[in-house]
Amino acid sequence: MGNGFVSCSFLLLLFVSLAPGEASNGVDVLRLPSMGLDDHSSSDGQHESLAVSMDDPNDPAVQVFALIKDLVVGKTMPIYFPYIKDPTSFQFFPKEATQHIPFSSEEVLEILRFFSFSPDSKQALAIRQTLEICEKEPKENEARGCATTLESLADFARGILGSDTRVQILRSSLLSNSSTPLVQNYTILDFKGIATGDIIPCHSEPYPYPVYYCHFQLGADSKVFKVYLRGDNGELVESVFLCHMDTSTWRPGHVAFRLLDVKAGESEVCHFLAAHDLVMFPIPK
Ligand SMILES: *[C@@H]1O[C@H](CO)[C@@H](O)[C@H](O)[C@H]1NC(C)=O
Ligand SMILES: *[C@@H]1O[C@H](CO)[C@@H](O)[C@H](O)[C@H]1NC(C)=O
Repeated sequence: MGNGFVSCSFLLLLFVSLAPGEASNGVDVLRLPSMGLDDHSSSDGQHESLAVSMDDPNDPAVQVFALIKDLVVGKTMPIYFPYIKDPTSFQFFPKEATQHIPFSSEEVLEILRFFSFSPDSKQALAIRQTLEICEKEPKENEARGCATTLESLADFARGILGSDTRVQILRSSLLSNSSTPLVQNYTILDFKGIATGDIIPCHSEPYPYPVYYCHFQLGADSKVFKVYLRGDNGELVESVFLCHMDTSTWRPGHVAFRLLDVKAGESEVCHFLAAHDLVMFPIPK
C-alpha cells in the first residue's frame, strides 16, 4: 500500500485502516460484505452501465439520477443511498491475506471448500456470479476487470490511464446510521467539479472478501463532482456525482432517460454513487 502512486481522497482511511494484526489471520474474518445488504443494494444492479437490472422507475434504488443543471446550491431532491451495515466490509484486504486463495471459475469448488460454503448455498451462487462478472471478456473499446487489492485496483487504472499516471480514488462518504431512510430529500450545500475525461467507475461485488469490478468505455468522456448534501434527518454526505457525457451507446429504454426526461445521446446522465462504489481518475501532472 505504501506505493506513491495512489493518492486516495477523503476516504483514504477506509483503505488503510485495516489493522496489520487483522491481516495476518485475515482468513478468519472473511465474510461476504454485500450479502448483508438488503435486496435494493445497488451492488446487485450496477454491473453494467448502471442499473441494467433496475428498470422499474418506482424502485427506490433508481432515485440516484440527475443532470448537471440540477447542481444548484439550495436545491432539494430525493436521493437513494443504501444502508451499509458494516462499513469495514468494503476495505480491501492486504495482498498477503488473499493471494493464496484461488480466484477463478475453474477453481470454484476449491474456493467453496476454502470458505466452507456448500455448493448450493446462496453464498456459492454469489461467488459464482461475481467470478463470472470478473471473467467476462471486454467488448470493443472497453476495459474491464476485477480488483481484490488496492494494488491491483491502481494497476487496472494505470493500464488504462498510462503506467506513470498518479491515480486518485474517490468514493462517497459512508452512511452507517441504521435510522437513515433509504430515500430522503437532500439539500445541496455545495459542489465542485473534480475531474473531466477518463474516469473509471468500480462497483463492490458480493464475495467473501472485498472485490471491485471496474469497467471503462474508451473515449467516453465523464465528469465527476463532489456534492455536499444535507439529508432531511440532518445527516451530512460528501457524495460522488458521476456524469456520463456520451449516452449515445446506452439502451434507449434505460430507466435514467425516463426519469430525467431526456433521450439517449442527447444529454448527459449523472448519478450519485453509493459509498460501496468508487471512481478512479488521473491526477493532473
Ligand atoms: C443517527 O441518526 C439520528 C437521527 O436520525 C441522530 O440523532 C444520530 O446522531 C445519528 N447517529 C450518527 C452516528 O450519525
Ligand atoms: C421531498 O420533498 C417533497 C417536496 O417538499 C415532498 O413532496 C416529498 O414527499 C419529499 N420526499 C421524501 C422522500 O421525503
